[in-house]
Amino acid sequence: MRRPILAANWKMYKTTAEATAFAAELLALLKERGGGQCEIVVCPPFTALAVLRDALAGSPVELGGQNLYPQKEGAYTGEISGSMLREAGASYAIIGHSERRQYFGESDAFLNEKVKAALSEGLKPILCVGETLAQRRGGEMASVCQGQLAGALAGLDPSICDTLVIAYEPVWAIGTGESAQAADAQETAGLLRQWLREAYGATAADQVRIQYGGSAKPENIAGYLAMPDIDGALIGGAGLKAASYWAMIQAAG
Ligand code: 13P
Repeated sequence: MRRPILAANWKMYKTTAEATAFAAELLALLKERGGGQCEIVVCPPFTALAVLRDALAGSPVELGGQNLYPQKEGAYTGEISGSMLREAGASYAIIGHSERRQYFGESDAFLNEKVKAALSEGLKPILCVGETLAQRRGGEMASVCQGQLAGALAGLDPSICDTLVIAYEPVWAIGTGESAQAADAQETAGLLRQWLREAYGATAADQVRIQYGGSAKPENIAGYLAMPDIDGALIGGAGLKAASYWAMIQAAG
């Protein structure tokens, strides 16, 4: 049984004051929860990580970074290392978000270095893959997504499956309000798991949690979670408000 994981990717939103207010609201809602199996991960801007680490201490909420640089330290102006993320309270790192691929030209080979760096720093990677609308229309969805997976995971052995989370985020569904049909998201998630089975064997592959991302919200989350190969969501806009994030957490149990 894979534990569902709902991760909020805040992107470049929220000051530390706004993050603190969100934490207070979420903590108040969590008090009503009394248990629950779903894993809750907030990925704020770097500046809010340590603030949230302190505000959420003792709660079940975990933290993730939105990116990392694949070196331990050095003259890399503007970058952040895995150990810095760990120190600031992160246990996850989002790697290969389509916005990083699109605006910062991140290649699969570079993302492969980042996955390895995350693992060596004890961070669990949330590896994002997804096709553009043109690729989908061109019938390339499976080859693009599986190719991104193969590139980012090159050289890694089946033990990657102990910690790996994959986020399937069709680019055309991100921030557009136009979410994928649950059955279509399942089809891709199934293809990704099939690739993992062939690469690492069924036992390892069946451990990996696959999230859907792209206009996921309280109104559609249950449909995704009901799919056999979808184990949660990577949430943008709906993860910025404690109330809507909370509604999704409740739907995930
Ligand atoms: P939205 O939920 O705002 O579409 O963003 C999805 C996303 O990119 C999460 O990483």
